[in-house]
Parts: sequence; C-alpha cells; structure tokens
Amino acid sequence: MTAQNIDGKAIAQSIRSTLKEKVLERKTAGKRIPGLAVILVGADAASQVYVGSKRRACEEVGFESYSYDLETSTTEAELLALIDQCNEDPKIDGILVQLPLPAHIEDSKVIERIRPDKDVDGFHPYNVGRLAQRIPVLRSCTPKGIITLIKSTGVDTYGLDATIVGASNIVGRPMTLELLLAGCTTTTCHRFTKNLEQKVRQADLLVVAVGKPGFIPGEWIKPGAIVIDVGINRLEDGRLVGDVEFDIAAEKAAFITPVPGGVGPMTIASLLENTLYAAEQYHD
Ligand code: GUN
Repeated sequence: MTAQNIDGKAIAQSIRSTLKEKVLERKTAGKRIPGLAVILVGADAASQVYVGSKRRACEEVGFESYSYDLETSTTEAELLALIDQCNEDPKIDGILVQLPLPAHIEDSKVIERIRPDKDVDGFHPYNVGRLAQRIPVLRSCTPKGIITLIKSTGVDTYGLDATIVGASNIVGRPMTLELLLAGCTTTTCHRFTKNLEQKVRQADLLVVAVGKPGFIPGEWIKPGAIVIDVGINRLEDGRLVGDVEFDIAAEKAAFITPVPGGVGPMTIASLLENTLYAAEQYHD
C-alpha cells in the first residue's frame, strides 16, 4: 500500500479563504472586525517564527492583530497585568500567549488568567474541561486542526483504535479527548509507557507529537493506518522532518501527513477559526 498524503497546506488555505469571506460579510453587515492579541515573551527563535506566522495569517484573513513583544526579563506580574488589559479590551476577541514562557513565569498561572471566552488557544482548564465533558467550545488548536485533517480522509473514526504518542498539555492530552469524542478507543503514550512498539502497531489511527526526528520506525505502522505526524524537527543538513520515519511509513499507511505541509498549517487555521468563534459566540 502507498499512503495518500493529507494536504494540510491546501486544507488550511481553504479554511483561511472561507474566514476571509466571513470577515468581509461582517464588514458589509457593519459588524466589528475580530481582533487577536499575540503575546511573545523573550527571544526564543522558534517561537519568533511561529508568532510571525500567526500575526501574518491574522492580517491576511482581515482580522485586527495586536502584537506584544516583551523582554525575557518581564515579570509574571507584568505579563498578568497585560492579560488583564487585553481581557478588558472590547476590540480583542482572542488572546494568545506563545509557549514556552521563560522559566520564571508559571504557564498555568498565565493561562488561567486569560478569560475563557478569549482563550483562543483552548488551553484554559474551563475549555479543556468542556472538551472532556463532550461539550467543547474553544478547542485546542493543533488537536482541532488534526480532527479536521482526519475528517478530510472520509474515514469513519467510530471504533478505531487510536494511539497518541506524547502527553503534553498542548497536543497529546487534548488530542486524546478529541479522539474520544470522535468515538475512538484511545491509548496515550508517554515517557513511562511500556512496550510502545506494541501500542503503535495496534493503531488504526496514530498521532505522534514528541519532537524527535524519526522517533517512530516506519516498520511499526499498521497496514492501512492513518498517520498524523505533529513533529517539526530541523536536521543538521537543514531539512525539516517529522517524528515518524516517513518513507517506510508511507508504504504501509493508507493516509499520512507530510512534514512540512501537514499538521503545521492547521494549527494556525484553527487559531483563526477560534478567534472568529469567540467574536461570534461571545462578543457580538
Ligand atoms: N507553543 C507551541 N504550540 C503552541 C500553540 O499552539 N499555542 C501557543 N500559545 N504556544 C505554543
């Protein structure tokens, strides 16, 4: 079997075109333009690239983008004060604080300070809890984007055995909740998991988010599986590769996401969808 590539770049572009039209419709109807505040603390090179892409995408669909670039030395209190200010600002529908934060700032304190109706990253315990109880509202961006990709294959997810490798708050945990909601039987793997190979081999649907190039041997992929590779790893020769050994996996899977051009563009598309959702559902 040779897998069909799931073209995240094209799907994300189509979502962005739809959003652009919806913004124009809002303008015509005399409604407010949705606003997204993007906050970056420090000078982490990868974060600067991601934040730049988010701000550009935001402007491309016609949203207002509010940029805050803070020094690494910013105190937790200063960041919380900025979040309070954005929480109160009626022009701002969504607030995104790029992670990771410098070590002296506690992620959970910052995330919990963002008003749940402006939490377009879907990281606030209120929004994660809603997803856990099968009544999602604002959903974490990468898992939400992955669900869109899986739906694009036309495969019925009910009853599938899904293995998620990685249990982070950003991807693995909310991904598990999304797949449960989609009717899968889920197995979430992490650094203490025993016999990872067996758990990967049994997966009709595999999501890998560990950030280690080629971490999952292609040989482990179940024939006919859907493989979703969240990893974006730069090799010494400059190439970008995922967490799954792509060439061999692609011979076994039915569907696979490429790196780049698979999951990456979907995270941003979901962020923009969430911002419009927040504007329409909570702030209009
Ligand atoms: N860091 C890595 N991924 C993400 C994300 O989706 N949102 C935020 N805020 N930070 C991240």
